[in-house]
Amino acid sequence: MAHPILSLWLLVSGLGLHACGQGAPDQENHPTAVTPPASSTFLNNSHFAFRLYRHMVAPNPSRNVLFSPLSFTIPLTLLALKANADVHTQVLQGLGFSPTRVPDNQAHVHYSQLLRGLLPPAGECRTDTGSILFVGQKQIVLPKFADLAQNLYLTEVSFACFKNFQMARDQMDHFTRKKTHGKIGTLVQDLKADTVLILANYMFFKGKWKYRFDPKLTELRPFSLSQELTILVPTMLWLGWFQLQRFYHLHSYALWLPFICNSTAVFILPDMGKVRETEEGLMNENFDTWTQPFPLRHLRSIQSPRRHLGNFSTNHAHEGLPGAEEEDVTNLWSFPMSLIPAIHFNRPFLLLVFEESSHNLLFMGKVMNPNAKS
Ligand SMILES: *[C@@H]1O[C@H](CO)[C@@H](O)[C@H](O)[C@H]1NC(C)=O
Ligand SMILES: *[C@@H]1O[C@H](CO)[C@@H](O)[C@H](O)[C@H]1NC(C)=O
Ligand SMILES: *[C@@H]1O[C@H](CO)[C@@H](O)[C@H](O)[C@H]1NC(C)=O
Repeated sequence: MAHPILSLWLLVSGLGLHACGQGAPDQENHPTAVTPPASSTFLNNSHFAFRLYRHMVAPNPSRNVLFSPLSFTIPLTLLALKANADVHTQVLQGLGFSPTRVPDNQAHVHYSQLLRGLLPPAGECRTDTGSILFVGQKQIVLPKFADLAQNLYLTEVSFACFKNFQMARDQMDHFTRKKTHGKIGTLVQDLKADTVLILANYMFFKGKWKYRFDPKLTELRPFSLSQELTILVPTMLWLGWFQLQRFYHLHSYALWLPFICNSTAVFILPDMGKVRETEEGLMNENFDTWTQPFPLRHLRSIQSPRRHLGNFSTNHAHEGLPGAEEEDVTNLWSFPMSLIPAIHFNRPFLLLVFEESSHNLLFMGKVMNPNAKS
C-alpha cells in the first residue's frame, strides 16, 4: 500500500490585455519582514474562481479545463498595484481581497507575502508556480519592474514580437517550455493584431493523499464522454470508507479527499448528461458547502480515471481509505457486496482543490475526457 500521489501541471494563458502594464519606478522592491496573519481571511477567492471558470468554460463546453485561481491571483495583484488607486482597489476586491489600508511603499511586499503564504508548504506536497508576462517588443519595461515581478511575484518578464504571429508564438513557446521543464509547450493558437501583453500562468502540484490505497488495482474501464460515445481509460479501483455525499439539487455525488499538506480535493460527479446543470448549481452554491468534511460512508468501490487529464496528469488520481488500516480493507471484502454502494467516475466530473485553513481555491476545473491532451 502506498500513499497515492496527485500531480498536476497546468497552464492558463491568453489574457490578451490591450493596455500596457508597466508603471512608475518602484521604491518598494525591498523585502522586509511582514508577518502574514495567522488566519488568512484577507483573501476569499471562490467568487473570482467561479467567474474565471465561467469565462473559460463557456467557450469550451466539451474540453478539459483546469486552472489555479490562487496562482493566477499573484501576477494580477502585481499588475493591480501598478494601476491608479481607483482601479487598484477595484481589481483587488475583484480578486477577493478584503479592504485593507497598507502604505503604498509597503503594498508590494505585503501582498506578495500574503499570497505566497497561501501556497502549500514544501514538504509533503510540492508546488512550482510562476507566471510569464510577455510584452510587445516596442514596449519599455523598467528593470525595477522586472525585478519586482521576479523577486516578489514569481513572474518573469519576456519580450515577444506580437506583430509577427509565427515569431511571437515560437518565442513564447520556447520560453514557456524552459520555465515549465518542457511540460507545457503550446501557449497560444491565435493573437489579436493589437496585443501588447500576454500573461501566462503555470502551476505544478504534486500532493500525497492522506489515506492509502493499492495502486496496483488499475484496469481499462469504459468512460462515457456522452450518452452515445464511450472510450476506455485506465481506471483505479478503491474500496473502503469514503467521504461521499449526494447533492440532489446539483444532480451529483461529491467525494471529499484530503491531502497530507492541508489541502483538500473535492471531486464532483454529475449524473449522466447533467454537467451544465451541475456547473450552474456549483456557481450558485455557497462555497462553504465544500470546505466542511463530508460524512464517512462505506463504499464497495470507487473507480476513477488514472492519468492524463489534459495538461494536468493525475498520476494516481484519487483516494484511498479514510482512516482505514489495511486489515479493514480485507474485512470489507467479506461484506455482501450488493449491500455496499459503489461509485464510478466513468463520466465527466468536476474538481476543486482548496487550502484548508484559508479555504482559498488552489485549483478548479472539469475533466470531460481523461484521454484528451487538453
Ligand atoms: C500538454 O503537455 C504535454 C506534455 O506533457 C505537451 O506535449 C503538450 O504540448 C501540452 N499541451 C499544451 C496545450 O500545452
Ligand atoms: C497543517 O495545519 C496544522 C494546523 O492548522 C499545522 O499544525 C500543520 O503543521 C500543517 N501541516 C502542514 C504540512 O502544513
Ligand atoms: C467567501 O465568499 C463566498 C462567496 O463569494 C462565500 O460563499 C463564502 O462564505 C466566503 N467565505 C468566507 C470564509 O468568508
